[in-house]
Amino acid sequence: MTDHERLILDRQLDPATRQADARRELRAALERDPREIPSKYFYDDAGSELFERITELPEYYLTRVETAMLRDLAPGLIERTGACELLELGSGYSIKTELLLDAICARHPHARYLAIDVAESALRAAAARLLPRYPELRMHGIVADFTRPLVGVPEGEARLFAFLGSTIGNFAQPAATELLRSIADAMQPQDRFLLGVDLFKDLITMEDAYNDAEGITAEFNRNILRVVNEHLQCWFEPENFDHVAFYDDLNCWIEMRLRTRHSVMLRIFAFDDERPYILDLTRGEEIRTEISCKYTRAQVEAMLRAAGLEPLEWHVAANDFFGLALARRLPPDAASTDR
Ligand SMILES: C[S@@+](CC[C@H](N)C(=O)[O-])C[C@H]1O[C@@H](n2cnc3c(N)ncnc32)[C@H](O)[C@@H]1O
Repeated sequence: MTDHERLILDRQLDPATRQADARRELRAALERDPREIPSKYFYDDAGSELFERITELPEYYLTRVETAMLRDLAPGLIERTGACELLELGSGYSIKTELLLDAICARHPHARYLAIDVAESALRAAAARLLPRYPELRMHGIVADFTRPLVGVPEGEARLFAFLGSTIGNFAQPAATELLRSIADAMQPQDRFLLGVDLFKDLITMEDAYNDAEGITAEFNRNILRVVNEHLQCWFEPENFDHVAFYDDLNCWIEMRLRTRHSVMLRIFAFDDERPYILDLTRGEEIRTEISCKYTRAQVEAMLRAAGLEPLEWHVAANDFFGLALARRLPPDAASTDR
């Protein structure tokens, strides 16, 4: 089979529905107090590339530490779980996924890799790298929003579901638990779930990871406005916004915002109202673009249980920076008493 024949790429939504959904969602988010732009809008082609650059920054310990953990853990984990298929949510460029695929393909060379991400360009880049590396692997990429009901995900057996990079931290409660519950609902009893979570640590380390000296995170943050411009056909000027990232002690999360340097009045025509929608931002006003929750082990395990998942293993980096939890779906009757 050629590389081309081993790849299936599905789009869950047609472009028009996707666009209409995005406009509805962005309008609601921009009208919220505080104003928001959901973090999934970071990931157009440029945003996905910028995120990859972030993962290589000295300040961004998350990827480095999780990768080192997976390097040690993956072979044993795959042996213990008996996983012969990998389903990853928010897979991005699937770089550290290779550590899981190395272990799976060593036992099951014809394995299938199901990768779900909003960013089609990231899925394509991952396929272009992975298919030559694993000559018998089949990859099925699904361009979809994992917060929406997932349709078209094929059935499988002994699957390892993976949700890495602490992407779960981009969701506050109860959305995080709901997302985990939708994953649990998609799992079979013999499937296992691997969750990567960033852990609470000293303030400087946490804040520096989102305020790198090179300014790549700032560039990534501002790029979200270009994505919004594209969806709403409006003219946010990214260079007129400052990147702000700080630890919120009350919520135990890092929050990223964009602060406007001037007052801004935007006319938005894309909402199909009779008149253009006017978005008024006063000088210094901020738009929240991301939260990134920092957890303790107890919080992670409570969240898994609340979602109908039973924690089986807990692994933590030597410096306590990052955690990996392995879980399985609770039997439906046990889960219903837990919820
Ligand atoms: C923080 S990055 C993590 C990427 C990679 N898993 C890693 O650990 O380095 C988040 C990834 O999730 C994807 N993503 C974010 N929100 C999403 C959503 N609602 N539905 C599907 N994919 C999403 C992004 O495109 C991006 O690839």
